[in-house]
Amino acid sequence: MAEVANADPVMQAQRRRTFAIISHPDAGKTTLTEKFLLYSGAVQVAGAVHAREGRRSARSDWMELEQQRGISISSTVMQFPYGDHVMNLLDTPGHRDFSEDTYRVLAAVDAVVMVLDAAKGIESQTLKLFQVCRNRNLPVITFLNKYDRPGREPLELLDEIEAQIDLRPTPVTWPVGNGEDFRGLIDRRTDTYVRFTRTARGASLAGEERLPVAEARAEGGRAWQTALDECSLLDAVGADVDPPSFLAGTSTPLFVGSALTNFGVGMLLDAVVELAPSPSPRLDVDGDPHPLHGPFSAFVFKVQANMDPAHRDRIAFARICSGRFERGMSVTNTRTGRDMTTKYATTAFGPDRETVEEAFPGDVVGLVNATGVQLGDTLHDGGAVAFPPIPRFAPEVFARARPLDNGKFKQFRKGLAQLDEEGVVQVLRDPDLGETENVLAAVGQLQFEVFAHRLGSEFGAPTEIVSTPYQAIRRTDPRSAGRLREIGGIRILSRADGELVALFENRYRLARLLSDEPELTLEPLIADAQPLG
Ligand code: G4P
Repeated sequence: MAEVANADPVMQAQRRRTFAIISHPDAGKTTLTEKFLLYSGAVQVAGAVHAREGRRSARSDWMELEQQRGISISSTVMQFPYGDHVMNLLDTPGHRDFSEDTYRVLAAVDAVVMVLDAAKGIESQTLKLFQVCRNRNLPVITFLNKYDRPGREPLELLDEIEAQIDLRPTPVTWPVGNGEDFRGLIDRRTDTYVRFTRTARGASLAGEERLPVAEARAEGGRAWQTALDECSLLDAVGADVDPPSFLAGTSTPLFVGSALTNFGVGMLLDAVVELAPSPSPRLDVDGDPHPLHGPFSAFVFKVQANMDPAHRDRIAFARICSGRFERGMSVTNTRTGRDMTTKYATTAFGPDRETVEEAFPGDVVGLVNATGVQLGDTLHDGGAVAFPPIPRFAPEVFARARPLDNGKFKQFRKGLAQLDEEGVVQVLRDPDLGETENVLAAVGQLQFEVFAHRLGSEFGAPTEIVSTPYQAIRRTDPRSAGRLREIGGIRILSRADGELVALFENRYRLARLLSDEPELTLEPLIADAQPLG
């Protein structure tokens, strides 16, 4: 936790940048995270953190970073000072597979760094994650990574970003040379050239020499010719950073570099400070901005039990929206009206938990043993407020959970209810049948693995995941459900919140029904668009 001289929540909020990194697997998210730590001074030497062997997919990459580097970082939020600022980098977990957790984290950040592999451009997972950012109007800063390797033409990548995700790229830096010959970046804002020198394995900061482009271009050669031609093209189309459209989520400042060799990493981190917004008043359920200056308020974007075998408890992670958090204060849960103390509040997890004494808007606190607290709950200290619920997302994969030991049925039921509440998966039930007739719905397969693992290890109910034939899900209502029950290959179930859903064994049947019987209620369970305040 950074030293705080001033306890004014508004001033402290201005110092904060709360963001996440999104990318397709292998684009370089973990490497960039580590390099941010290096550039902030939080670690002195960056090392090889990618021991792929034995990497457990369900585990956060950060935990791995933590283990291998022996540094204390949280698997949920990493907080580090950078100059006068406090950076809160939230982990987007489960990136080997797609999971709902990632979506929820995006509900708790103010901006996103989107990392693209310069040889690949926009990939499937980037697309999905970006869609969530768009729904939430999140500002996105783009980093074209791996420029030290032969990649695609940067202008072509700009076109692809614009065409595929309708986000207008405004390059801030532009490369001189590519692949082996990648030697520096032109900063288009200042007409400065930054010449980099490599360090062994990128373990320490890359050497940087700054000089005016007019002087540096005297170096000549093809790389410079190309870079200058491209820059004049960008100037001609006016592709300059445009803060209003960036903040509205329709244009993206673009940076080029290499997380491996550290080229452009410092400039990117500076840009997060300069361009990404500091926490602003969050909109409450009525759409009114809730002022930053207090009293304390926060919303819970993640609940996890038994995160760490050494501390078997339940932690609710809350993002602070207003006021000052002080450990030990009593807070009220808006939904239940119940008060709770915050004696055990942490920032870091894993072997060492770090106690947090105070925190401000933009920060994330982990409240240990926050009984009765659920995903999406609002907590406050006087001045009742409720923030909009965190959306649940459209499941794409379905399975069934079956207890392997019938003697453990009570534990199985308890686990099912707890993990449903945590949002590990959505549990769909048939009110006329028992708990074993559940259907689990998730965004990615990994959620099922985590679910079964936790039922076995935490609840003592070994569980088997059985595949189901379902391909699609729609929200429906009792009237339409009557008709749908008459048709084969469709199952009507209910969610824990009482919502009725129809599961389809065949997508084509759903498509037919949508066109043949438009009067039926069959709404997609889409991510809703709750704009951040
Ligand atoms: P992820 O978290 O997004 O999945 O990506 P990660 O950082 O793990 O990087 C995936 C691979 O890409 C790693 O290689 C990493 O070293 C490499 N990489 C990341 N950034 C750059 C870059 O700027 N340039 C180049 N050339 N490579 C980069 P790996 O072979 O899988 O692991 P390792 O053995 O190199 O550690």
